[in-house]
Amino acid sequence: MNKKIAIIGGGNLGTAIAEGLLKSKFCKAADIVITKRNTSTLKHLESRGVKVTAVNADAVMRSEIIILAVKPYQVTEVLNSFNAAITSKHILVSVVTGVLISDLESALAKKIPVFRAMPNTAIAIQQSMTCLSFNNAAATHTGVVTKLFAALGKVAQINENLMDAATVLGACGTAYAMRYIRANIQGGIEIGFDAATASLIAAQTVKGAAELLLEKGTHPEQEIDKVTTPKGCTIAGLNEMEHQGFSSSLIKGIATSYNKIVKG
Ligand SMILES: NC(=O)c1ccc[n+]([C@@H]2O[C@H](COP(=O)([O-])OP(=O)(O)OC[C@H]3O[C@@H](n4cnc5c(N)ncnc54)[C@H](OP(=O)(O)O)[C@@H]3O)[C@@H](O)[C@H]2O)c1
Repeated sequence: MNKKIAIIGGGNLGTAIAEGLLKSKFCKAADIVITKRNTSTLKHLESRGVKVTAVNADAVMRSEIIILAVKPYQVTEVLNSFNAAITSKHILVSVVTGVLISDLESALAKKIPVFRAMPNTAIAIQQSMTCLSFNNAAATHTGVVTKLFAALGKVAQINENLMDAATVLGACGTAYAMRYIRANIQGGIEIGFDAATASLIAAQTVKGAAELLLEKGTHPEQEIDKVTTPKGCTIAGLNEMEHQGFSSSLIKGIATSYNKIVKG
C-alpha cells in the first residue's frame, strides 16, 4: 500500500510487527521506521533496510501510520515526545494494553483517527490474531488499518469494551498455548521421544488441529469425535485430563488473567 509506518517502541511486540511487515507486501523496508531509546537491539532490522532511531518525533515526521507499542506507564511521556510532530495526515494505532481510545485522543495535540489493536507475537510470521477497535474513524482509515493487520494474520473488529478480553484470549493466549505444547513435549519425552522429535510432533499437531477448525469451521468436539474410538486410548486420556481439571484450569486461568487486567 506504500504507507509509511512508524513503530514507536521497538520491544517484543514492536519488533515482531516490524518483522511481520518485512515479510508482508504491505510496505517496503525503507517505509518502516522503528524507535527505542537503546537502539542497539534493533541492528537486525536496520540491516534489512528498516530505519532505526531513538528520536520519536523524527520517526513520526517520516510516517503516516504511527504504531504505539510501549508499556502502558510510558504512554504519556512517549506521546509528549512526538505530539508536536503530528499532522492531519497521521493515523495512530495503539497496541498498548489498557489505555482507552478516549485517553489517547485527549492526550494528542491534534485530532487524528485513533485505533486500538491487540495483536500477538505471531505477528512476526504473519500469523497474528489481531482484535481492532475504533470510535470515529472514516472508512478510508479503517480500510488502511484493517489491511495492515490483515497482511499480518487474521483481524476481528470488536467493541472497545472487549479489548481486555481480547488481550487475554488473543495475546496472553500465545503463552497458554506454549505451555500446553510444552506439557505435550514433556509427556512425549516420558513415553519415548527425544526432545526435538517431541517438539516437532507436539507443535505440528497443535497447528494442524487449529487449522482444522479455521479451515472447516467445525466445533472442537466434532473433531474430537473423529479421533475417539469407543473404549480407546484417546477418550481414556482425555477423560483423565478432565478428571484432573484440564478444561476447568484453563477457564480459571483465563478468568484470573482477565481479573488481573480489570481489577489490578
Ligand atoms: N508482547 C505481547 O505479546 C503483546 C501483545 C499485545 C499487546 N502488547 C502491548 O504492547 C506494548 C509493548 O509490549 P512489549 O511486550 O513489546 O514491551 P517491551 O518489550 O517492554 O517494549 C516496549 C519498548 O518501548 C521502548 N521504549 C520505552 N520508552 C521509550 C521511548 N521514550 N521512546 C521510544 N521507545 C521507548 C523500550 O525500549 P528502550 O527501553 O530501549 O527505550 C521497549 O523496547 C505493551 O503495552 C503491551 O501491553 C504486548
